[in-house]
Amino acid sequence: MELRSVIRSVAHYVPERRVSNEDLSKIMDTSDAWITERTGIKERRFVESSEVSTADLGERAARLALEKAGWSSEDLDLIVFATLSPDYYFPGVGVMMQQRLGCRPIPALDIRAQCSGLVYGLSCVDGYVKSRQAQKILLVCAEVQSPVLDLTTRGRDMAVLFGDGAGALTIEAARVGTSDPTQRGIIDSFLGSDGSGADVLCMKTPGTAVPGFISQDDIAQARVHPYMDGKVVFKNAVTRLIETATTLMTRNGVKPEQLDLVIPHQANLRINEMVRTQLGLPPERVFNNIQRYGNTTAATIPICMSEAVEQGILREGALVLTIAFGAGFTWGGNLIRW
Ligand code: COA
Repeated sequence: MELRSVIRSVAHYVPERRVSNEDLSKIMDTSDAWITERTGIKERRFVESSEVSTADLGERAARLALEKAGWSSEDLDLIVFATLSPDYYFPGVGVMMQQRLGCRPIPALDIRAQCSGLVYGLSCVDGYVKSRQAQKILLVCAEVQSPVLDLTTRGRDMAVLFGDGAGALTIEAARVGTSDPTQRGIIDSFLGSDGSGADVLCMKTPGTAVPGFISQDDIAQARVHPYMDGKVVFKNAVTRLIETATTLMTRNGVKPEQLDLVIPHQANLRINEMVRTQLGLPPERVFNNIQRYGNTTAATIPICMSEAVEQGILREGALVLTIAFGAGFTWGGNLIRW
């Protein structure tokens, strides 16, 4: 017998406010044609007001996931929260879930792996399960990114890409026989990082490496927004996503045609199409929703999972591969029997 991390439920919550490419073209020099052609994005969701935070979206998704699993918050013995847009510089958002959901005084931790938040999160959860430190776990991935975007022509290269949203999973330790390949749960995870990419996709201010932490000049010179060298990130993303998928398939003896669904991070539809064709997968076996949400960073893959379940595309017993790449650089994936 071995311990497997089985996903019991997945849910998502996105703000109701839709922001179309046309809406953005009214406040900056961009166009629906440019955004659609370069990224595949048609619209994204932004929080309705500055009073809505990452913890608010995360809590909504978390409550839905608990309800779907039929769990009470008191059942939980670990909270993992993945985000790059926490409510506060510190403490993390994980502890806010502990308090807001009314959990026992269980451990709560935050993961800072940006667009790889979900894949790092699942790998972390699996480690807690296999080392018998947790049995019922809540993994929340949420982002409120719209307030830090530079929504002017100066920031248009980044501003058109990102959106707000949240997803959450409940995961349970299950005892399974070792020989049955159809056993549900996380089969394997693969993670990587390369800190030499830290400068090409980042938001450095405010920060302890910045003189004075943050200054009026930083605000005036718009250094308080995210920065990306899109072409460098694009090339690295394609390479690492393919490497992740092939590594997980090779070391688990899985052929591309055996995968029921691949859920890639949603940064750019062109990236996902390149990865799909390189892996030789038909379009219906790669899930995309970037058209409606843009890049919601850590929340992306759980939102995809939740929609795929709702649409009947992702069913119990399916062999699923997640793959993600993000700032850091960080990347990775999970092979899951759903
Ligand atoms: N609207 C209109 N024009 C824009 C624009 C916008 N929103 N943003 C940039 N442009 C302009 C640029 O100024 C540039 O103009 P120039 O040729 O006159 O200099 C031109 O469009 C091309 O810009 P470029 O950056 O070369 O476009 P691109 O084809 O590389 O696409 C990205 C840009 C960001 C869509 C693409 O590089 C990308 O997706 N990168 C990876 C993102 C990613 O993987 N992120 C993962 C982790 S979050």
